[in-house]
Parts: sequence; C-alpha cells; structure tokens
Amino acid sequence: MSKSASLLLCMLIVLYLQKYVTSDSNTALLTQNSESQCGGYCISAIKLFLEHIAANQQRWNAFDVTTLECKAILDRKVPKVKQKEYFVQIGSRFFYIEQHHRVNWFSATSICRQMGGYLASPRSEDELNGIKEKLTRDRYYWLGISDLGNEGLFLSVATGKMASFLKWSSGEPNNRGKNERCVELRSDFLMNNNACTFKTYFICEASGES
Ligand code: BGC
Repeated sequence: MSKSASLLLCMLIVLYLQKYVTSDSNTALLTQNSESQCGGYCISAIKLFLEHIAANQQRWNAFDVTTLECKAILDRKVPKVKQKEYFVQIGSRFFYIEQHHRVNWFSATSICRQMGGYLASPRSEDELNGIKEKLTRDRYYWLGISDLGNEGLFLSVATGKMASFLKWSSGEPNNRGKNERCVELRSDFLMNNNACTFKTYFICEASGES
C-alpha cells in the first residue's frame, strides 16, 4: 500500500474511532459487548476502508505519474529560457557566472543543472582566458571538475569523462587534509582542489543544445 494510502487509512481509523468512542450509544456498545460486536462490525468497517483505497488507488497512481511528467517538462523547458536570459557567450560556448551567492560545490552543481547547464569545465586556455575577463578579482569560483569518484582522477561534471583541460596552480592538486576533492578557479585564475563544502561563487556552462 502506498504511503498516502496508509496515511489516509490511519486518518480514517482515527476519525472513525473518535466518532465511535464519543457517541453515547456506541460507547455503551463498546464497553458492554465489544468483543462479540467487533468481529462483524470491524470487518465491515475495514472492508469499507479497503474499498475506498481501491477506488482511489488509480487516481493516486495517476497523480504520481502527472507529477513526474510535470517535472520532466519543467526540466526540459525552464532551463532553455533561463539560458537565454543569463548565459553569456565566451568564445564558442555560453557561461553563467554567479557573482552574488557563495555556495558549496554540491549546491553549485545543482543550481547549474536547474538552469539547464552544468558546473563549468573550461576546455582550453583560450576559453579560460575569455572567462577570466568576466570574473571579479580576488574571488574563487567553483568549476565542474572533481575527483570525488577516484582520488586523482579529475572528471568533468558535464561529460562524466576526464576533464579535457586542467591548469593547476603551483603545488596543486594537493588534497590538503585529505579533504579536497572539488576544483575551484582561484584568484590567480589557476585551479586548486578545495573541500567541496567550502562556499564560494561558481561558473556554469550551458549544455550543448543552447
Ligand atoms: C592551499 C590550497 C588549499 C587552500 C584551502 C591554500 O593555502 O595552497 O592547497 O586548497 O589553501 O583553502
């Protein structure tokens, strides 16, 4: 039985019992002869609940499907609108640079997905130079690169493959404190692996379709 069906059943039972116990004549019935009464009466009450659940099950299932469909539609449609509004062209691709909110790497990943893109992985020195021009000095920006799966294997969030372009700051990636698995662009515009829970600005790239 689904969660909502179980919840409804419990509510119905509580309501039913409240009514049953507070009514004078039923209270008498309950106290006088409850054991012999319950057999048939409980069965018919339970049958009523089950019939109600059966009658509504299809509707609840349909509701679940509709919710999923709506989500799928939103996932497909909202991002395209947002991409046009917020992403700027740098070289041949489009990027969004978050300059107001600092979030951890996981949130940054999720926000970029909600915008229909991915946390960004620059693909070349030229692209990185183009991005640099739009950044604010002395800030750090999350990139869509991490070695969360396998230490030392830096994958791009956008492709799921090895990041095609990496430009580490000197001495990096050092996985300091054995806790640095996510890649940021530092104020020297070079890459560093930092703790994924660190909160900073971030850069999204638009997905291929835009
Ligand atoms: C280190 C980096 C480290 C960072 C953490 C820097 O001083 O050079 O390796 O990721 O501190 O904030």
